[in-house]
Amino acid sequence: MDLSCAQTYIEPELVKQDENLKETTEESLVKKRRIENKSDQNSKEVKVAKVTKEDLPSCSKTRTTEQRCSPRKRLDVQTSNEGIQEKSVIQRKKCKQKFIYGNYSKYYGYRNMGKVFHDVRLDVFDAYCNLFAEKRVLDIGCNAGILTIEVAKRFKVKSIIGLDIDRHLIDQAFKVLNKQKKLLPLDNECKKLEIFPFNINFVHGNYVLKDDVLLEIEKPQFQMILCLSLTKWIHLNFGDKGLKQAFKRMYLQLEPQGVLILEAQSFNKYAKRKKITDTIYRNYQAIQFFPQDFHAYLLSTEVGFKSCELMGLPAHCKAGFQRPIYIFYK
Ligand SMILES: C[S@@+](CC[C@H](N)C(=O)[O-])C[C@H]1O[C@@H](n2cnc3c(N)ncnc32)[C@H](O)[C@@H]1O
Repeated sequence: MDLSCAQTYIEPELVKQDENLKETTEESLVKKRRIENKSDQNSKEVKVAKVTKEDLPSCSKTRTTEQRCSPRKRLDVQTSNEGIQEKSVIQRKKCKQKFIYGNYSKYYGYRNMGKVFHDVRLDVFDAYCNLFAEKRVLDIGCNAGILTIEVAKRFKVKSIIGLDIDRHLIDQAFKVLNKQKKLLPLDNECKKLEIFPFNINFVHGNYVLKDDVLLEIEKPQFQMILCLSLTKWIHLNFGDKGLKQAFKRMYLQLEPQGVLILEAQSFNKYAKRKKITDTIYRNYQAIQFFPQDFHAYLLSTEVGFKSCELMGLPAHCKAGFQRPIYIFYK
């Protein structure tokens, strides 16, 4: 905080006093001191009472509205302005940081422009409804859980867990889920039978493990994993290494004959987000494992999927959301 201007500011009243203090006799000096002492009780700035108009610094001669207030007030103004500036920097930073994981709070609003929720990816899944039925599913990067709940409802999965790195999105997902539960008649048996919507759960967490060594304790526990519009965000935040680890983890978490449903973003969609954080920028610059390499990697011995097929290309009206969806079989 720059206080220099505030320190040199002089009250006009004190300048007037100074002009009247022209006497050089002892008496006048005593008088002068008395005035100083009197003023001292009113203001701490009295010590500058001897300063003449000519001594006034330029900042006090051409004063801005802000400078016209008392020093104390101006200090407050300066402090509060500084606060506003600091606030706006924080707010700007927050805005930038807010969606660093693709954790958009209105994601399904962008994707589904109509009032009624209809995700065109569900049309692609429709042709494979048997693949979903009675399966234990993990939906990685579930956002606010809208699609997770819809998949559970439409395809009669045995259970589904939605996982997301953003705690607020998980809270939102629970709210949506609770609304679904409240729609049921009071005497419903769904809870007892563990069927929709009581077969849905949400978990907050980062799918990328702190260390690759943790892959060693990974156990098969799902029959299907959904990895939809997520790879770009893992890639940008955790680099080639993080994404490769996530692919290995998906394989390890699947039971034999399990399937991975993968909808990856193409590399040309990365550039727009490359400057959100320094880490993202560094990771982006260092990428050597490109989306066109994902298939070969997933089918390689390093991961282990047996085969892969194109599930479909959703007919989204926005070209950016038309991403091919693939099935990888364990
Ligand atoms: C672009 S959204 C896609 C949402 C949803 N999968 C879909 O396609 O409708 C990406 C989501 O992945 C989440 N995410 C990103 N990185 C993650 C990570 N490392 N672990 C868990 N979730 C993550 C974000 O918070 C965000 O909600």
